Amino acid sequence: MRLIKMTDYNYRTMVLGQPIYDSKRRILLTAGRTIDPKIKDRLLDLGISYIFVEDEVSKGIELDDMLDMPTWTEAIKDVQEYHELVRDNKKADIRKIQEVAKKLTNEVKGRVMLVLIPSGAIAKELHLYAHSVNVAILSLLTAKKLGYSDIRLKDLAVGALLHDVGKMLTRDYDKHSESGFNHLRFVSQMSIVSAHIAYQHHEKVDGTGSPRKIAGKDFIEVAQICGVANLYENLITKEGMPPHEAMEGIMAASDIYFDHHIVQSFTHAVPTYPPGTRVIVDNQYPSIVTKVDKHFQRPVVKILADDRVVDLAEVPTVMIKPDLTAS
Ligand SMILES: [Fe+2]
Ligand SMILES: [Fe+2]
Repeated sequence: MRLIKMTDYNYRTMVLGQPIYDSKRRILLTAGRTIDPKIKDRLLDLGISYIFVEDEVSKGIELDDMLDMPTWTEAIKDVQEYHELVRDNKKADIRKIQEVAKKLTNEVKGRVMLVLIPSGAIAKELHLYAHSVNVAILSLLTAKKLGYSDIRLKDLAVGALLHDVGKMLTRDYDKHSESGFNHLRFVSQMSIVSAHIAYQHHEKVDGTGSPRKIAGKDFIEVAQICGVANLYENLITKEGMPPHEAMEGIMAASDIYFDHHIVQSFTHAVPTYPPGTRVIVDNQYPSIVTKVDKHFQRPVVKILADDRVVDLAEVPTVMIKPDLTAS
């Protein structure tokens, strides 16, 4: 199975590897089916820009390290419910968010790596909530590298799941961080750390961020982690960048937006070329990434011409680069 852009889908050679869900999280198309060309445009209109497929190229790629779809959509549901209650000025139950935080923490702790399901794999009405779940997962992966304790992981996950909750309270984008903070700091059982994550997630260490232009140490580490995760998720989902390009964007932000050690932990926690990525090996062999384990920048690849499997972690001089011509 591999992840592709919907625009690259070919009904002659590919079947769905995962179901497609609508805005109510109901299954629109089941795994194993093909997508009729007429339906493709409708799915794009629904905001579904990424799909998982099985085809000749994806043979031998098991996305074991991906969060399973039911766990992902359940988390999205709980995050959506919380946001909608806040929007409607009703009492929202923080315990559900804490439970989601705990579940995601266990998923991250129990694995060497976790492949992201992009928000664009689900209908656009759910993108904000899928984004929040993904930012929480990416934050947890980074914090795990930094050796965080369970209590700090929990505060981070709750803050990341609700980092954009202010968007439910104001239409002014520039005010959403502060609105979120002002909501969260009055929620009982909420750690003030989680509230500050929402407050600071658009700040930058060089003092050019928003809303307060804080700099250096004032930009607390947990909020930096959420900030880097948020930037990465936005580069993939909003800008449509492939993972390796989003990763370059993150590396370019080192010591400008975020402290170097945060960026470094992120690059060691999230693979540059996730399984299923089309790459060129040694400047000449079109290949596909089958596995990432020992080294997050040096995956195991299968050379497509002869099905040869090469572990790039063991041949450090062999180059890897993205295959920009493949779909
Ligand atoms: Fe935000
Ligand atoms: Fe965000």
